[in-house]
Amino acid sequence: MSFVESKIGPGESAPGPEKTPVLEIEDLRISIASAGSSFEVVKGVSLTVCENEIVCLVGESGCGKSMTALSVMGLLPRGVARVTEGKINYEGLDLLSLQSRELRRLRAESISMIFQDPITSLDPVFTIGSVLQEVVRSHRNVSRAEAKEIAVRALVQAELPDAADRLDSYPHQLSGGMRQRVMIALAIALDPRVLIADEPTTALDVTVQAQILENLRARQREREMGMLLITHDLAVVASVADRVAVMYAGEIVEEAPVEELFADPQHPYTQGLLRALPDISVSRAGLYSIPGRVPSPQTPPPGCLFAPRCEHVLDSCWEGNPELKREANRSLRCFNPQPFEVR
Ligand SMILES: Nc1ncnc2c1ncn2[C@@H]1O[C@H](COP(=O)(O)OP(=O)(O)OP(=O)(O)O)[C@@H](O)[C@H]1O
Ligand SMILES: [Mg+2]
Repeated sequence: MSFVESKIGPGESAPGPEKTPVLEIEDLRISIASAGSSFEVVKGVSLTVCENEIVCLVGESGCGKSMTALSVMGLLPRGVARVTEGKINYEGLDLLSLQSRELRRLRAESISMIFQDPITSLDPVFTIGSVLQEVVRSHRNVSRAEAKEIAVRALVQAELPDAADRLDSYPHQLSGGMRQRVMIALAIALDPRVLIADEPTTALDVTVQAQILENLRARQREREMGMLLITHDLAVVASVADRVAVMYAGEIVEEAPVEELFADPQHPYTQGLLRALPDISVSRAGLYSIPGRVPSPQTPPPGCLFAPRCEHVLDSCWEGNPELKREANRSLRCFNPQPFEVR
């Protein structure tokens, strides 16, 4: 654990209770209709992001992180996934009740998103300058020259090398890291209050990943944006998060300020994720992995969804799913929490 702990700097505590919520997700449920059947992939998720705060949403592949993010943007795949229950509030405005035109406007100006895959998110037939300027001009009443200036400024802030000379480049002429910087520029060009980043660095090598994350965090802090950062990488969480929500099989199972989560993980799933982190200071015969797999959303187990993989499972865990219980500044969904043992 030493690697992760050493990355949490002193004085980087979670924001105090005086912070204003900018994005509030309440009891969100998302269903998928596929091949004649319908099943829930997000099961009552509640999550709050405050201004000047980075909330990380972590969990294994398929647990519903992207679906949660896409629902905030009104971008769930049409005819496949839909919100069946819940509320999504942006500064008090219920996003789920907005018309698509209002949502489109809000999407660029107030809430923006960096997607999981920068390669397919940029249209190969447009130069990055034309895409950026188009975004600016469709939301701001500015001249072409002003739009160009804003576009270059955003690229400079995203630390794209030779930003002004890159306006005429096509996406295929840029490296993966550069493309992701263009995505960041697109996301921050209009000064949104909320930024959602879905695995923004997964496709990149580790050094570029660190630079991009550093850049994202710098932009977030200087603009005091609320940021929802989705990742499955706990090292990323340790280096940037203020608060962490751990998601498993469509549910939040634990939520806590980052230092508390790493110092005292309480849910057996969180403990498993931490144990599965490679620790370069310890030589081991093999890496730990949580036994078993995330259950299919079509065939969830009875009782607690983590029971089939849990080393502290009790008979009663098969009988009902525990509620997410809030205590002080953290939440936990578990019938039988046990102290974390480093092995
Ligand atoms: N277009 C789709 N059609 C059918 N099922 C889908 C579709 N997109 C996602 N799903 C299912 O919804 C569930 C949640 O998917 P989601 O993309 O939110 O996972 P995730 O946590 O973002 O995973 P990852 O870490 O791999 O990105 C998964 O079980 C997935 O198989
Ligand atoms: Mg995803």
